[in-house]
Amino acid sequence: MRKPFIIANWKMHKNIEESVAFINQIKAALPQVSDEEVGIAAQAVALSSMKQTARGTNLQIIAQNAASELAGPYTGEISARSLADAGASYVMLGHLERRRLFHEDNQIINQKVRSALTTGITPIICTDDKMVQAEVNGEIHYVFDQLKGVLRDVAPAHLQKIVLSYEPSWAVGSSQTANPKVAQQGCQRIRQTVCNLYGSLLADQVRILYGGSVNPQNISAIMAQPDVDGALIGRASLRPDDFLEMVNWQQ
Ligand code: G3H
Repeated sequence: MRKPFIIANWKMHKNIEESVAFINQIKAALPQVSDEEVGIAAQAVALSSMKQTARGTNLQIIAQNAASELAGPYTGEISARSLADAGASYVMLGHLERRRLFHEDNQIINQKVRSALTTGITPIICTDDKMVQAEVNGEIHYVFDQLKGVLRDVAPAHLQKIVLSYEPSWAVGSSQTANPKVAQQGCQRIRQTVCNLYGSLLADQVRILYGGSVNPQNISAIMAQPDVDGALIGRASLRPDDFLEMVNWQQ
């Protein structure tokens, strides 16, 4: 049974004061029961205050990026260990904007994943829609090469807790409404890739989120897809009312 996970990715919106105010506004209405996980990915400087504000709730505090090393002469970088100290339980790695704007490739993201795993913080690994066709056991499959690269040398025991996401590049930050069938197809192919790499048991357990133009109107149809275990929401997560509506997509 894979627990649904709804994540607000605020990107570089909201300062510390706004982040705290948002949590104060929603925390009484967050689900008390533990049948769904809810998290907010925010700018690193806000994480510690957000964690304190969220005390007593199940809200997960999420970092949006981490350095590939744990310590050393890397001016301006923030290590996964420091993010965990600040209260982050998860860290997003390899988001499309990190690849597109900051030139991160599979090798760098893989280093970040392995570094984060040594600290106890859980990676949420993002992949976009670049797939290739490959022959697996005599059958033609769609394979996410990115996933093979970023999961290099990641042990099965670690994959058990890692979260993956599928974000088609054309749907991120665009006006194109996400199509539930496209979301399902992408997440299913990611699961197939995990199956090819780690076997069916782990592929059945790993949670795969969909991201790209999710909003209060389309979230229920997207979440109803069998291989979609959650949503990674950008613009539509910035208003407390909209976010709560999406957290309560089952109602
Ligand atoms: O991480 C979130 C994604 O980049 C989606 O952003 O919901 O604004 O399209 P969006």
